[in-house]
Amino acid sequence: GKDLLGIETLPPAAIEAILDRADAHAESRHGEALEGRTQINMFFENSTRTQASFEIAGKRLGAEVMNMEMRTSSVAKGETLIDTALTLNAMRPDLLVVRHPHSGAVDLLAQKVDCHVLNAGDGRHEHPTQALLDALTIRRAKGRLHRLTVAICGDIAHSRVARSNILLLGKMESRVRLIAPPTLIPPGVAELGVEVTDDMERGLEGADVVMMLRLQRERMDGGFIPSEREYFHRFGLDAAKLARAKPDAIVMHPGPMNRGVEIDGVIADDINRSVIQTQVEMGVAVRMAAMDMLVTGG
Ligand code: CP
Repeated sequence: GKDLLGIETLPPAAIEAILDRADAHAESRHGEALEGRTQINMFFENSTRTQASFEIAGKRLGAEVMNMEMRTSSVAKGETLIDTALTLNAMRPDLLVVRHPHSGAVDLLAQKVDCHVLNAGDGRHEHPTQALLDALTIRRAKGRLHRLTVAICGDIAHSRVARSNILLLGKMESRVRLIAPPTLIPPGVAELGVEVTDDMERGLEGADVVMMLRLQRERMDGGFIPSEREYFHRFGLDAAKLARAKPDAIVMHPGPMNRGVEIDGVIADDINRSVIQTQVEMGVAVRMAAMDMLVTGG
């Protein structure tokens, strides 16, 4: 297709193909697929991992990469997202990488421009390259993506990472358990075929993969905001709670992480359990694969 907007529309075979390509890029770390191409990163929300890894991925494949500084752009003078995108599109880029606080904004933009568009996270909707890098990390650690029990814990309600992961793991026939206070579970999520619990220890029982999420306070408009200490006590991942998961369970976190809130720093740093740094490394490989396959029609 022209764009990568979400996991929802990707068939399982396409997911496997991207992961296979990413595996190859993780080994070689360089390629020529984007030589002579122009990539523009447009981030309307803060980012460390996604923006840096899209930039590095483009450069490792030979692209000219430009990071638009959205805070100092003419958006501040009232120019709309679509007019901004049409303006940049007129400069004939090959790839636009877009992050935006509104769900659906990147899909809308993709309909208006003729270059390839990659969704780098839109509101609470989707973050497809995050789910793909998580899948690659799981596949490399566990040797497969099917018949695994994956516990996703924390602020599911505001998380595009959770939503894209639930969609991907469902397509791959893994079992997903959501663990969160009822106020942080989005309505209608049971329709996605997941189990839901607010009991952390029960939810972690026998899990192969434990994925922790940050409380997204920036998306909690005046509603329920738990105190950090209480939250850590009930839902923070520490050694005692992790002992309920399988002995070889891996611990994941998409970042940014708040130590002592959703995860004990000791667990995050435990190289025998935590694959958090591997996730970041796989992020570059997956973004190389996604851009390479869009541009070369793979
Ligand atoms: N995981 C993730 O999207 O991190 P950033 O917000 O730092 O890009």
